[in-house]
Amino acid sequence: MARTDDDSWDLASSVGATATLVATGRAIASRDAHGLIDDPFAAPLVRAVGIDVFTKMVDGELDLDALAQLAPDAAGRARANIDEMAVRTRFFDDFFVSAAAGGIRQAVILASGLDSRAYRLPWPEDTVVYEIDQPQVIEFKTRTLADLGAAPTAHRRTVPIDLRDDWPAALQAAGLNPAEPTAWCAEGLLIYLPPEAQDRLFDNIAALSAPGSAVATEFVPGLKDFDPEKARAATATFSQIGLNLDMPSLIYHGERHSAADYLSAKGWQMTGITRSELFVRNGLPVPDRDENDPMGEIVYVSGTLG
Ligand SMILES: C[S@@+](CC[C@H](N)C(=O)[O-])C[C@H]1O[C@@H](n2cnc3c(N)ncnc32)[C@H](O)[C@@H]1O
Repeated sequence: MARTDDDSWDLASSVGATATLVATGRAIASRDAHGLIDDPFAAPLVRAVGIDVFTKMVDGELDLDALAQLAPDAAGRARANIDEMAVRTRFFDDFFVSAAAGGIRQAVILASGLDSRAYRLPWPEDTVVYEIDQPQVIEFKTRTLADLGAAPTAHRRTVPIDLRDDWPAALQAAGLNPAEPTAWCAEGLLIYLPPEAQDRLFDNIAALSAPGSAVATEFVPGLKDFDPEKARAATATFSQIGLNLDMPSLIYHGERHSAADYLSAKGWQMTGITRSELFVRNGLPVPDRDENDPMGEIVYVSGTLG
């Protein structure tokens, strides 16, 4: 279904299901021999959402061998996606750990989905972690983790709001102090925002950031020449394995600013590392370049406001 300016979702539908998809990757990567990440909450959260194919994947009932039987060219791509979730999770985990080591005591996870960092990172005692996502997403994760007996490792404050609405006001009402430095993360979010909403997001981040603040996100170069039909062919595996998720219709494509360039122009010092470089840095085999990958060579970026 096409996106609209005020669409909403839960974790089993539309953009919400992509949060369950990436949590599935984290759950599988967490039991990998690589040992790059350990997210003990990913699997129970995915099971609680109840999308059958994802539950089977986290329970090992649909492993890469079984996937190869169902969709012959899918197993290699799935392996690469799971490894990418491992290195991507590690990138953003390291970002927050380093921001905390640098003295930052407020963190904002934009589009927090099923991200469990507020429950699993070693935050300094006085850290406040704000999570922003759509109301149904926030409510589901909060309730499910409470039912599991999980306790946050920081002061966790939730901000249930659409990121196309006035989230800065809601975030400040929840307690964010713009006079103090903040660590911001927008992981796996930007492709679901129209280009102007992305610019507004970074305008707002800049306006709420005291000197010393830090930010991490990613740039997806494939959006510029994104061809929905080609992307649909590349994700045909989804329907072959019984998943009703039309990714191309959820994504806003075309020209947009790179987050790093946009923030650099506002005085932030930004650096980036490509997906392939992240694989090398973490000692994982770099997947063969897939010419059909609609996302292109994603660049993970981070930076600080001097
Ligand atoms: C691919 S998931 C990523 C979730 C999380 N950052 C992670 O990496 O596990 C995309 C997330 O963006 C959220 N999102 C996308 N557009 C949003 C919007 N306009 N307002 C609030 N949340 C949004 C979705 O609800 C979903 O949780």
